Amino acid sequence: MSRMDERIDELMERRKVAYSGGGEDRIAKHHAKGRFTARERILMLVDEGSFEEFDLLKEHRCQHFGMGSKQYPGDGVVTGYGTIEGRLVFVFSQDFTVFGGSLSETFAEKICKIMDMAVKNGAPVIGLNDSGGARIQEGIESLAGYTEIFLRNVMASGVVPQISGIFGPCAGGAVYSPALTDFTIMVEHNSYMFLTGPKVVKAVTHENVDTEGLGGASIHTVKSGVAHLAARDEQDAIEMIRELISYLPQNNLTPPARIDCDDPVDREAIELNDLIPDSSNQAYDMKQVILGTVDHGRFFEIQPNYAANLIVGFARYNGTSVGIVANQPQVLAGVLDNDASIKGARFVRFCDCFNIPVVTFVDVPGFLPGTHQEHNGIIRNGAKLLYAYAEATVPKVTVTTRKSYGGAYCVMSSKHLRGDINYAWPCAEIAVMGAKGATEILYAKEIGSAGEKAAEVTREKEHEYQERFANPFEAAKRGYIDDIIRPMRTRLRICKALCLLENKQDSNPPKKHGNIPL
Ligand code: HXC
Repeated sequence: MSRMDERIDELMERRKVAYSGGGEDRIAKHHAKGRFTARERILMLVDEGSFEEFDLLKEHRCQHFGMGSKQYPGDGVVTGYGTIEGRLVFVFSQDFTVFGGSLSETFAEKICKIMDMAVKNGAPVIGLNDSGGARIQEGIESLAGYTEIFLRNVMASGVVPQISGIFGPCAGGAVYSPALTDFTIMVEHNSYMFLTGPKVVKAVTHENVDTEGLGGASIHTVKSGVAHLAARDEQDAIEMIRELISYLPQNNLTPPARIDCDDPVDREAIELNDLIPDSSNQAYDMKQVILGTVDHGRFFEIQPNYAANLIVGFARYNGTSVGIVANQPQVLAGVLDNDASIKGARFVRFCDCFNIPVVTFVDVPGFLPGTHQEHNGIIRNGAKLLYAYAEATVPKVTVTTRKSYGGAYCVMSSKHLRGDINYAWPCAEIAVMGAKGATEILYAKEIGSAGEKAAEVTREKEHEYQERFANPFEAAKRGYIDDIIRPMRTRLRICKALCLLENKQDSNPPKKHGNIPL
């Protein structure tokens, strides 16, 4: 046997050991919990045969607590690159079977290496997380390792898309890296994220809570807004990541993702002509407007169960990816509240980072009044959405389907915030406030002195105000609305507007960065 053959045999043996992670018993235990291994997840994620691994044989350097003799080549994280539908992506996948996927100094170095490569080569980073947090035996080196990753998350933010999948525990410092990425997808009932676990919570606050109630997908995709999507199982989560990637560009210097489109741009959606109820207080489903106008009715919604009064997500018009933001009259009448404002602002900023045009559908009665909203900072939070739309230089196309009142009119991609093309449907109501509120303020004295006829006077004045102001014509007269369009022609008009704006150039004054009201 030649020396080369011996070495090849040794290499194969070493690889075999590395591929077995924490060993067969731990893998069996992991599978028994309904979880795939780190490598199985990568194989499901990337195109067949495309994955190339780095640092398979890298080992930790810890000597404390007898760790010197406990080596698992690869040290608990699989890193490398592959393709999704032929497009380059960098991937790391944490291996729970090796020290619970906990993060050591060398584990962090492996992740940092592929993050640096992703930025240099302009490709997305996908992290599949399944980790007990900092490797307790290492102490401060693991903290340093986490912080090196956080720094890279921040540096890569707005340069390449970053996506996190949460496939098991994600505890302690481990949660901040996903929180710094653009989108986080959790697996229902089998993953959780929290800074401190139920035992610490009990000790400090005396609260009794289990892992799901503290930080399961049902909490983070509904209540906290920390995660964006909840997947039924791991396979579903992987499919979501693949689909999400299809809408995103490789980096901030490339144009929006584009695919061939065989859905005619002039396809009319006749049903939209009958969508808006005669009574402006009656709800309808804004998703029908979205589905009726986008290519093949395909809409990839982000955060569907959090602040559902504002819909955000990705779709395509004539093959080009866009971000969609839309008020949902079916939930809280489509008002803007704290959560919806934050959700919308973050989404608009993401689209602007990555040159993705924003299409906005407006039906908003205003900001939600009340002490709960005010005390929780609706002024600051509403300003976030306003700020995001104002600073965005991507193409901005807006269609007002019905209400657009007061401050919410200003915020929702109005002409005055550099909206490029602003259309309205014929029954749009664009005014400073609704008829009821306006009448109560303008005619308080007349109504007060009308005695028994107060209700009648109120009705009359409301009707008068409604007729005079609750229409799209006043805004159109001033050029705040570029055209009033028939609902069934909305797809064509949006496609044409996006085509017009394809080479749009706009910029903001030179500055280090703005100071968005966080
Ligand atoms: C080293 C760890 C580990 C860790 C788990 N293991 N977490 N080893 N460091 N952080 C090991 C276990 O010893 C065990 O080894 C194996 O992984 C599987 O763990 P189990 O406990 O048997 O699994 P399970 O019952 O599923 O529980 C999973 C878990 C639990 C909930 C994640 O292991 C746990 O609570 N771990 C500690 C979480 C934590 O407090 N992390 C530190 C956070 S501090 P064997 O050999 O038996 O297979 C932090 C600060 C960073 O992260 C701040 C940065 C800014």
